[in-house]
Amino acid sequence: MDGKVAFVTGAARGQGRSHAVRLAEEGASIIAVDILENYDSFDYQLGTEEEMATTVAQVEALGRPIIARKVDVRDALALTAVVDEGVKEFGHLDVVCANAGICTIQAWDDVSPEVWTDTVDTILTGTWNTMVATVPHLMANGGGSIICTGSTAAIGGVPYVAPYVAAKHGVVGIARGMAIELAPHSIRVNTIHPTGVDTPLAGYCMEQVEKLTPTAKDQLSSLLSNLLPVDLVDPRDVSNAVLFLASDESRYVTGLEFKVDAGNTL
Ligand SMILES: NC(=O)c1ccc[n+]([C@@H]2O[C@H](COP(=O)([O-])OP(=O)(O)OC[C@H]3O[C@@H](n4cnc5c(N)ncnc54)[C@H](O)[C@@H]3O)[C@@H](O)[C@H]2O)c1
Repeated sequence: MDGKVAFVTGAARGQGRSHAVRLAEEGASIIAVDILENYDSFDYQLGTEEEMATTVAQVEALGRPIIARKVDVRDALALTAVVDEGVKEFGHLDVVCANAGICTIQAWDDVSPEVWTDTVDTILTGTWNTMVATVPHLMANGGGSIICTGSTAAIGGVPYVAPYVAAKHGVVGIARGMAIELAPHSIRVNTIHPTGVDTPLAGYCMEQVEKLTPTAKDQLSSLLSNLLPVDLVDPRDVSNAVLFLASDESRYVTGLEFKVDAGNTL
């Protein structure tokens, strides 16, 4: 990753922070964004200014530069402005991690219109906005690598997360179409599909599962269990897949749906 510049959304904590740090460890300069405020429709704390400061400190401790900004991926203009700022500072853009996401677990008839809209806008439109803001710079660079964060819920049906499943399947759709459209520009587009990852999002989802009926809990538990003996993988396990897809080691890999799922979807 020496000399490369990576843009990461949802970088204040969890997998986004881990991707930023992992890529920086290998030499990348980082442009990082996070919403750094909460949604009205979700009763859990999203990334904070303090958490983003920790991401900045961890990247800088590796001797790598980072530009970190408070940006909502639903805001296409703000995303474009920060990517433009980062490219002006660092000279070019090579890698894009469309990672920001939210999730809440509830039965379909408890899903409010706001939860539906916020989930789809963040995950699906946010991924699209990230592409719109970054692809012109990757083209100007003569190529690059886009890594979109999916989920096991992007591969098969999972109950009690209907808006999330819909949005994550949509992310795969964007990635498949764009992998073809951008291939002549040497821009690769791949998706990663983690099983449960040990982050605040997973902690919140576990609390939500406890509120479901016993039947619903049973139904969901069997779908969330992994074949390998691990309940939640570490964010770094996902970052190692991101690193491979970001690097020239995967230079002819595009359109891959890369599962880091401990066998879950088998
Ligand atoms: N944790 C899991 O079990 C798991 C499993 C599979 C996939 N995922 C996906 O991985 C990605 C990262 O999640 P995580 O586990 O690190 O969760 P997390 O909650 O720890 O981190 C997500 C980050 O995204 C930020 N964010 C949310 N909405 C945003 C917006 N509109 N604009 C900018 N930033 C925003 C949050 O503030 C937070 O810092 C998400 O796309 C999630 O759906 C998570």
